[in-house]
Amino acid sequence: MNRIEGRVKVTGLATYAAEYPVEGVIYAYPVQSRLAKGRIARVEDGEALAMPGVLAVLSGEDPPELGAGAEGELALFQSREVAYRGQLVAAVVADTYENARAAAAAVHVEYEPQAHDVHLSADHPGLYRPDHVNPDFPTDTGHGDVEAGLAGAATTIDVIYTTPVMHNNPMEPHAALAYWDDVGRLMVYETSQGAAASRDLIARTFGLPPDGVRVVSRHVGGGFGCKGTTRPQAVLAAMAARAVGRPVKVVLTRQQMYDVTGYRTPTIQRLRMGADADGRLTALEHVAYEQSSTLVEYAEQTTTPTRVMYGTPALRTAHRLVRLDVATPSWMRAPGECPGMYALESAMDELAYATGLDPVELRVLNDPETEPDSGLPFSSRNLVACLREGARRFDWDRRDPEPGVRRDGEWLVGTGVAASTYPARRSPSKAVATVQDGEFHIRLAAADIGTGARTVLTRVAAGTLGVAPDRVHVELGDSDLPDAPLAGGSMGTASWGSAVVRACEDLQRDGKEGRADTTQEIKGDAKLARHAFGAQFAEVRVNAVTGEVRVPRLLGVFAAGHILDAELARSQFVGGMTMGLGMALMEETYTDEESGGFLRRDLAQYHVPACADVEGVEAVWVDEQDDDLNPMGSKGIGEIGIVGTAAAIGNAVFHATGHRVRDLPITPAKIL
Ligand code: MOS
Repeated sequence: MNRIEGRVKVTGLATYAAEYPVEGVIYAYPVQSRLAKGRIARVEDGEALAMPGVLAVLSGEDPPELGAGAEGELALFQSREVAYRGQLVAAVVADTYENARAAAAAVHVEYEPQAHDVHLSADHPGLYRPDHVNPDFPTDTGHGDVEAGLAGAATTIDVIYTTPVMHNNPMEPHAALAYWDDVGRLMVYETSQGAAASRDLIARTFGLPPDGVRVVSRHVGGGFGCKGTTRPQAVLAAMAARAVGRPVKVVLTRQQMYDVTGYRTPTIQRLRMGADADGRLTALEHVAYEQSSTLVEYAEQTTTPTRVMYGTPALRTAHRLVRLDVATPSWMRAPGECPGMYALESAMDELAYATGLDPVELRVLNDPETEPDSGLPFSSRNLVACLREGARRFDWDRRDPEPGVRRDGEWLVGTGVAASTYPARRSPSKAVATVQDGEFHIRLAAADIGTGARTVLTRVAAGTLGVAPDRVHVELGDSDLPDAPLAGGSMGTASWGSAVVRACEDLQRDGKEGRADTTQEIKGDAKLARHAFGAQFAEVRVNAVTGEVRVPRLLGVFAAGHILDAELARSQFVGGMTMGLGMALMEETYTDEESGGFLRRDLAQYHVPACADVEGVEAVWVDEQDDDLNPMGSKGIGEIGIVGTAAAIGNAVFHATGHRVRDLPITPAKIL
């Protein structure tokens, strides 16, 4: 089945947030803080107000009114304190984008600067133990005696891995178009991973009841997490629209996106592991140090995958956070699992070399019966099957483990493996199904951020109803539709699909209309450890003269329940693995300690993999039947593809060169 919106997308007919033809629309352009910490003494807007087409300048001089629930980065212009460089401190509203931008440069902000601190370190005096980590996991966990396990081990390793700030780069920038209608209801065309969640947050920010706001996000050009929470452009558009009584559009530039749409926190991760003479773990400790802003506590759940992966008599995981004068980090594809598994799976490779075991066999040997941290049984766990199938396809048993010995002219050649995991959760959703003249209509506020959600939900509905998919029409991306959760946490299909199945079943009973709300169904789920697993294999060629790393082959083998649509699933896995390649070799946003701001703030300088960087990427899956998940038997697939890729590539670089780089990205300078 082809992607339902494929034709409108490739012909340019799909309407994105900034593209709705709203009559009389004007523009707002933000002014950003030029320092990282301090106080705004004065905003001088006289020159800007006198410029062509300018209707208003918004700033803290006369703070626009917001609701009591306005918080953090959405509480625009409510405080005179600057929390980070790039924060929005004012905005110009004008008849054209160009006039707004020109006048924004003429808004003079006078600051009282203070010394800032933007440097994360594992011995920062401000480190503390947050209450919980994103979204609601315990901060620290453990069982057994790690020190005793290490003391009694035949082999130990104690290593530190670091990962830099990384930024999401969806093709569609953050945009919003807002207006207040005749009865005072706020309408927002918004680029969002969840129209209902965005409606709730915007309503809270403006002190409105939820039905006082409607958010429409029919097409979204990528999200990966940075459109999972409402961003300042939506608040600015609505605030400016109210100030001037006209529809207002805000489209952030790529550089502005780097400042105000979140980023992946940098991490410092220490792993201590012990193994007995056979290679069985005797102790495993994973501690992550990371940052948040002074505005909002966001603590990434970096070590949570270590709670899931390997059996050991002694396990400890912990997170420590420091609040710096930086923007608030947020979600980026597999927050937690992605950086956490980079460190754990790299360290597992080091342990394999230290114990003399094959890295596939080391993982098989330590595969647990039950979830290590909780003791809960797994609903299904097929990591070993993924490792075995990947090893077979990759000719792993012909591999010589000796590092740094295979040469092809200037190129050193190596292979590496790493495991992947991601939780398989779902959250409550509603859906309505109706039939008219033999056509079936499914309605819910789900989001299609480029994943193919429309298509897969059409298939789910058609399958439940026993009708051809071309008789099923799915409407989503609008908060006026029945409430549905975010496209996030790889939970979209499981959450929405459950509601669609139940609504279709209800329709079959009723004959005319079916309604579903899965809140009770989900509450009744048995307590089980539900996770998808995978194994990633990488082949690299490292140029001995230039240090350049090429990746001729990536293979991912996944166990993710029932795969609902092979083409869409492959696309998600391959997309995740490609993003993992970028993480391994290219992606890094420098924080400039002097100014406190990010350097590398566009696609000319922040490198993501381009076609020439990506040679062979292959994603396959093993059969997995799991009846304890949801009516489809599916696990989420949006994020697991990026988990483990960077470790597989890093491990292959070690195998090729004999040199272990423990700091991402693996750039030529770190290899030579
Ligand atoms: Mo994804 S980082 O759960 O939006």
